[in-house]
Amino acid sequence: MNTVLKTAILPAGEAAVAAAAHALARGGLVAFPTETVYGLGADATNAAAIARLYQAKGRPAFNPLIAHVGDLDAARRIGRFDASALLLAEAFWPGPLTLVLPKAADCAVAELATAGLDTVAIRIPAHAIARDILRAFGRPVVAPSANLSGHVSPTIAAHVHSDLEGRIDLIVDGGAVAVGVESTIIGIFDQPMLLRPGGLPRADIERVLGRTLQEPPEDTESDSGQPLAPGMLASHYAPRTKVRLNVDRIEPGEALLAFGLGAISGIDEAAAVMNLSARGDLDEAAANLFGFLRALDTRAARAIAVMPIPNDGLGEAINDRLRRAAVGRE
Ligand code: TXA
Ligand code: MG
Repeated sequence: MNTVLKTAILPAGEAAVAAAAHALARGGLVAFPTETVYGLGADATNAAAIARLYQAKGRPAFNPLIAHVGDLDAARRIGRFDASALLLAEAFWPGPLTLVLPKAADCAVAELATAGLDTVAIRIPAHAIARDILRAFGRPVVAPSANLSGHVSPTIAAHVHSDLEGRIDLIVDGGAVAVGVESTIIGIFDQPMLLRPGGLPRADIERVLGRTLQEPPEDTESDSGQPLAPGMLASHYAPRTKVRLNVDRIEPGEALLAFGLGAISGIDEAAAVMNLSARGDLDEAAANLFGFLRALDTRAARAIAVMPIPNDGLGEAINDRLRRAAVGRE
């Protein structure tokens, strides 16, 4: 399992799609762009391929994976949709939404990918290359974000390369992703529950459902003792540099992650300054977030000091990721 692989990089296009489908069919690991972040794909029905995927990412195998499919028919072969699941699927797929559903009776997704849960996470991505690969391959593809476990998710192919070179077979380079934070995860339990804020704003989902989403319980343990959202480990999405949130002044030697044009004291002594969105646009900020965290992480700053970011729209996902980046480092 520790064999060093030669990681090929191909520009998005027909040849890359064919190579990706071929590699997946052989049990290989293929990174490809989705509209949220780059994913690291493996054949969802092949336990050996999934074991290699956990190994390549250094990801604990109790943290289950999202099965990506090309259309609703394929989704309905692996998960059981109730009325609210169908409503959300029809409103938002393809797109940055993942639904956690009871497994269908003949669900082909390997047990290892669902970490032994009786639910399965499903998403139809909106990116053209991701959809071409899913169509060419013809089976569900599990795809976590294509980063080393615990690290910041990749938004360009170079991020994937720097984390996973020599550990995976192929990277399909489709340029920068559009959304920049991972999909919103909704658990379809008794009531729809927001398991992870993400690229689809909560308000859009609540509008379609006609009610507010449930919040996960504090300890995120279900009755069976299984974590409801096992990946929501407190420290996650973390740069190596310490992260300090909601700052109104920066200390000498800190790097500033700014938002909007608000005033901040100490800026002249900053080690570096990057602005997520000078015009205060949360969509633009989400698209820049992970790339800027990676860039500031290379500046040997004392800390990354982050200005306050409003919590509406994609702000909820941005603040969630920043809180996780700050855990244990404040
Ligand atoms: O945008 C995205 O969702 C990206 C792209 C590549 O599609 N994928 C992604 O995957 O973010 P990953 O593995 O980094 O995050 C998946 C999350 C984890 O927190 C995992 O615990 C949760 O989904 N998850 C998967 N299956 C689950 C299940 N059956 N019940 C609860 N949570 C589940
Ligand atoms: Mg991830």
